[in-house]
Amino acid sequence: MAGEAAPGQSGTVPSPQTARDAVAILDFGSQYSQLIARRVREANVYCELLPHDATPERIAALNPRGFILSGGPASVYEPSAPVIPDFVFKSGLPILGICYGMQLLAHQLGGRVAPSSKREYGPATLHRGDDAGPIFGGLPESFGVWMSHGDKVIEAPPGFRVIARSDNSDFAAMADDRGRIGIQFHPEVVHTPLGREIIKNFLYQVCGTEPTWTSGNYIERAVSDIRAQVGNGKVICALSGGVDSAVAASLIHEAVGDQLTCVFVNNGLMRREEPERTVATFGKHLKFNLRAVDAVDRFLGRLNGVTDPEEKRKIVGGEFIRVFSEEARKLGTIDFLAQGTLYPDVIESTAPETKAAAKIKTHHNVGGLPKDLPFKLVEPLRYLFKDEVREVGLALGLPEDMVWRQPFPGPGLSIRILGEVTEERLEMVRGADWVVMSEIKAAGLYREMWQSFAVLTPLRTVGVMGDFRTYGNMVALRMVTSDDGMTADWARVPYDVLARISNRIVNEVPGVNRVTLDITSKPPGTIEWE
Ligand code: XMP
Repeated sequence: MAGEAAPGQSGTVPSPQTARDAVAILDFGSQYSQLIARRVREANVYCELLPHDATPERIAALNPRGFILSGGPASVYEPSAPVIPDFVFKSGLPILGICYGMQLLAHQLGGRVAPSSKREYGPATLHRGDDAGPIFGGLPESFGVWMSHGDKVIEAPPGFRVIARSDNSDFAAMADDRGRIGIQFHPEVVHTPLGREIIKNFLYQVCGTEPTWTSGNYIERAVSDIRAQVGNGKVICALSGGVDSAVAASLIHEAVGDQLTCVFVNNGLMRREEPERTVATFGKHLKFNLRAVDAVDRFLGRLNGVTDPEEKRKIVGGEFIRVFSEEARKLGTIDFLAQGTLYPDVIESTAPETKAAAKIKTHHNVGGLPKDLPFKLVEPLRYLFKDEVREVGLALGLPEDMVWRQPFPGPGLSIRILGEVTEERLEMVRGADWVVMSEIKAAGLYREMWQSFAVLTPLRTVGVMGDFRTYGNMVALRMVTSDDGMTADWARVPYDVLARISNRIVNEVPGVNRVTLDITSKPPGTIEWE
């Protein structure tokens, strides 16, 4: 399999699992499916999240040592309910069925499942049996788990024994002697405190996998794959200042050095010191072949007088493509375009929210390049989750600041300024953003938060400063916690931190005389105000 592209992914870096232990996670549509994959990777075992109806060839390409079946919204008795493919049973490999996955195991192997009279949702206590086997090895007799199910198993299939009960279920977990295990609860969520141990037990004790998925191994593999793919070709990469493009570029640089040219377009919509920092890091410090393009006037000229957010997005996206293409042409023949596509964008998930997540990214990616720039793609991060990208970035020696940077939208500050984008208003939002960043970092909250930033509203309000009445601009603080940006909650930032931020903004940012706090979750609100 070495050197071959995984099915359906021609032209990209091949799947890096070769010569590594792997497990396959079959996705039955649970909102937690990606979380299972992340937990397995955290246990240093490579895995892929595949649709429940993935072909046997696709699974064989992964060469898994075991299967994990996710939960899902269906009921096994629905006529169109998804089922476990036969080849999974025929493989003889260990299987861990979680929630719906367990119900399917019971249903398909001759046990019985019934709708529960009482929906069990939330914390529960699990009492394990004496002969539970390796899956609960090293765990106490009773421990807390998270349940979220309607149907439940009421009869284990032949050959299976009950290995744990909960107060609401006599069949909270079951196992046979062939490594097939069903658990009704969700070990992947943080509300099952020992969930990580259970997943590790399945991986190491039941499947016998080794913890070989590490950033060091990944880098070694990715570098040799990139060399094989690129050969003597030339690669171009757009640096945005964000972590994904930075890590993608660094991996490619590690592999092919000066065959890589990075292009950094300063669109005038970045935060204070951001363009300078990116150029210093990559050009001066890391000595990448870097072309920094000052396109500030071009972008601001096009945005002149525009207030509609969708229009702003289109203008910024379109202008970026023009500037980037011009630079590419100046470089002569370029064979490859590097992209920082991540694994969540690649997964063909059955859960609707992951599809939506992929859509968000497209705003930002270098899609829609003119046809006369016929690049092939190099996507060295397409098998990584965000936390893995960060680990790889750190292992490659990128500065912590860059690796831990919060997400920043492609259209930049143009969508954090409501109304017209002018130099003066950009300076205002930059000043406010600077204060938010420095206070949030000083309070040690930066990494806890998905994003924390200031929005410049189009509102002006009356204030008083000294003996004078002011009529200034209003800034809103948007600070959220989130796992993936798809849902979010407003962060409960301590009052004294809020007080410092507010004080500093009205004192230090000319033109701003009022600060408000956004306490809307997503949904129904979005993270950006636009
Ligand atoms: P919303 O505002 O839709 O944003 O809740 C969800 C997440 O996506 C980020 N975002 C973008 N990221 N290009 C990006 O790469 C974009 O055009 C874009 N628009 C929003 C936003 O900052 C948040 O993290």
